[in-house]
Amino acid sequence: MAKVLLKDIGQHVGQEVTIRGWLYNHRSSGKIQFLIIRDGTGFIQGVMVKNDVGEEVFSLAQGLTQETSLEVTGHVKEDDRSPWGYELAISGFEIIARAEDYPISLKEHGVDFLLDHRHLWMRTPRQVAIMRVRDSIIRAIRQWLHDNGFCLIDAPILTPAACEGTTTLFETDYFGEKAYLSQSGQLYMEAAAMALGRVYCFGPTFRAEKSKTRRHLIEFWMMEPEMAFVEHDENMDIQEELVKYVISQILEHHKQDLAALERDVSRLEKIPNMKFARITYDEAIDFLREKGHDIKWGDDFGAPDETALASHHEGPVFVEGFPAHIKAFYMKPHADRPDIVLAADLLAPEGYGEIIGGSQRLDDLDLLLKRIKEHKLPQQAFEWYLDLRRYGSVPHSGFGIGLERLVAWICGLDHLREAIPFPRLLNRIYP
Ligand code: 4AD
Ligand code: MG
Repeated sequence: MAKVLLKDIGQHVGQEVTIRGWLYNHRSSGKIQFLIIRDGTGFIQGVMVKNDVGEEVFSLAQGLTQETSLEVTGHVKEDDRSPWGYELAISGFEIIARAEDYPISLKEHGVDFLLDHRHLWMRTPRQVAIMRVRDSIIRAIRQWLHDNGFCLIDAPILTPAACEGTTTLFETDYFGEKAYLSQSGQLYMEAAAMALGRVYCFGPTFRAEKSKTRRHLIEFWMMEPEMAFVEHDENMDIQEELVKYVISQILEHHKQDLAALERDVSRLEKIPNMKFARITYDEAIDFLREKGHDIKWGDDFGAPDETALASHHEGPVFVEGFPAHIKAFYMKPHADRPDIVLAADLLAPEGYGEIIGGSQRLDDLDLLLKRIKEHKLPQQAFEWYLDLRRYGSVPHSGFGIGLERLVAWICGLDHLREAIPFPRLLNRIYP
């Protein structure tokens, strides 16, 4: 008997096949039982008729518990009424392992309960759809970068110094020396860009942020492209193209998953064909003040500010020209206005906030040294980084895409905790 995956079941219509999976749901009406089975690649409804399988098999099936693992044999039929398109007329089954009372039922559960059971919560269709979209988002980004001449360079996770400021570092002991979990691979990408021109890294990053918001994770995944000879405006052009490509790929290949997530895709559909708005930080502050936000020039945006700015536009919006003192030490100042830097954040629509942070980097040795001192960073730990300015420094730019922010936006999730398989949150490192 052919053992098939449910994703391929359509190729076996009219045949007798064996599937292996878990019992997702079960109902019984007299002489018929309906077993909904999932195998991770899909779902199918199995129909078991007493007269076909006999008394013994039929009553064995009646005692099956949710999430019991099974091998089920049956005849594949097309079925227009089924949400999965096919049905299995069951001729027999074997239990692989019985499940105890499964803690996650098909009714609603509180989010803390679900997070405590994340290892099981993953099995639900909604979570499966999110993980599939996440996988494809990663693949689309990699594909676009590869097609556009970027080389993947892996950055280290254990680092001797800060990249994004010292307040959110996770410290660890490195054989008697202090080391930190990486906040960003950027500085290493700058070195690599001087070697290979266009590079990117993709890996986990760590921020000991004491903020408990729906947009923050303690451990999150970031894609960080870095490009030699690219300046601020072109940096934004590249980000825009990349985001459009990712959206169009997901819309093309994940209609079913987005439907399972009840994602209204009408706004996403416009994105590949639109021009992203670009506003300055100055304009953003004026706009927010007009709207009554309690903010003044020099302040960083809070989540409500980002939401207000983005909701004023159809698609994503770049905010550029931030005050230097609220941004990282490595950003290049504006030529005519040294109080602002050539940095832009890309804000997603629909309240999803900043999905990309990018900037042109400081390429002048003396100014960079000055910044390192101003930020009270240990110069010695940055000597290698300063070398990049000593040996053929060039204008260069890059950006970081927060993967989970992108997943949350595209899937329409209201919290980042569902956008990553095992979220690390403030006060949560289990499971
Ligand atoms: O703006 P950030 O801090 O920029 C950097 O780390 C730069 N070194 C990137 C670069 O230029 N190579 O972070 C970049 C993105 C943010 O726009 C956001 O999407 C995401 O990373 N991000 C977070 N995502 C989840 N949880 C957090 N705590 C995040 N902090 C940043
Ligand atoms: Mg940022």
